[in-house]
Amino acid sequence: MIFFNKVTKIYPPYLNKEERVVLEDVSFRLNKGDFICLVGRSGAGKTTLFNLLLGEEKPTSGEVFFDGINVHKASVNNSHRIKRRIGTIFQDYKLLSSKTVYGNIAYAMEVTGSSDEEIARVVPKALSTVGLEKQAFQFPHQISGGEKQRTAIARALIHDPELILADEPTGDLDPYNARDVLNLLLEINKAGTTIILATHNKDIVNSVGRRVITIRDGKIASDSNQGKFIL
Ligand SMILES: Nc1ncnc2c1ncn2[C@@H]1O[C@H](COP(=O)(O)OP(=O)(O)OP(=O)(O)O)[C@@H](O)[C@H]1O
Ligand SMILES: [Mg+2]
Repeated sequence: MIFFNKVTKIYPPYLNKEERVVLEDVSFRLNKGDFICLVGRSGAGKTTLFNLLLGEEKPTSGEVFFDGINVHKASVNNSHRIKRRIGTIFQDYKLLSSKTVYGNIAYAMEVTGSSDEEIARVVPKALSTVGLEKQAFQFPHQISGGEKQRTAIARALIHDPELILADEPTGDLDPYNARDVLNLLLEINKAGTTIILATHNKDIVNSVGRRVITIRDGKIASDSNQGKFIL
């Protein structure tokens, strides 16, 4: 489903900063339905790897394929289509503070032109998947961090993505909420969605016991099934 072929990413120098080689000759494949943990120190290039996959950054050399399509050679239409097939979740949730839980999820459908009927049908389902029926009409400042992240997960699910990129989704959560979010991601994966979880959380990586790709000094330092957290 995903193929990074000898990808190198160098950010050019700017202001007084030197050029930065973030990824160097990185290759890996991911199959549909996989759940992988992507680990590496802060600045290792995890978010960069996600941005390459989303087509938001270009590789300096090498290619990134999503279902056989070269992400960086895709037509504008195809590249929109690829993005639609990918759901994203971030550490800081990225919710709209002026909208309720329901409104945040509905908004993601409004901007892609879904009908009111479709929104009314899909949003309650997404809310029930993440267990937030009771909080539907509360605003982000009225819910807990775990509930915010579950809202973000519901929002990521509404287009029925084939792949979810979760970028340190438990970074701001206490261990209980982190565990809830992880269990939710595991359930979503069980239902068939491929997941890449970028995280610093050792306990989470070790408890998941799935494939772990570790990036160090721009390279894949290890890639093992049922891997363990190593830095
Ligand atoms: N747009 C950019 N321009 C220049 N340098 C960048 C840019 N984006 C990221 N970098 C640099 O590339 C390196 C990798 O950044 P990236 O955000 O991918 O790391 P990360 O592994 O996600 O880190 P963290 O765990 O802290 O989120 C960092 O040194 C960062 O400063
Ligand atoms: Mg990051």
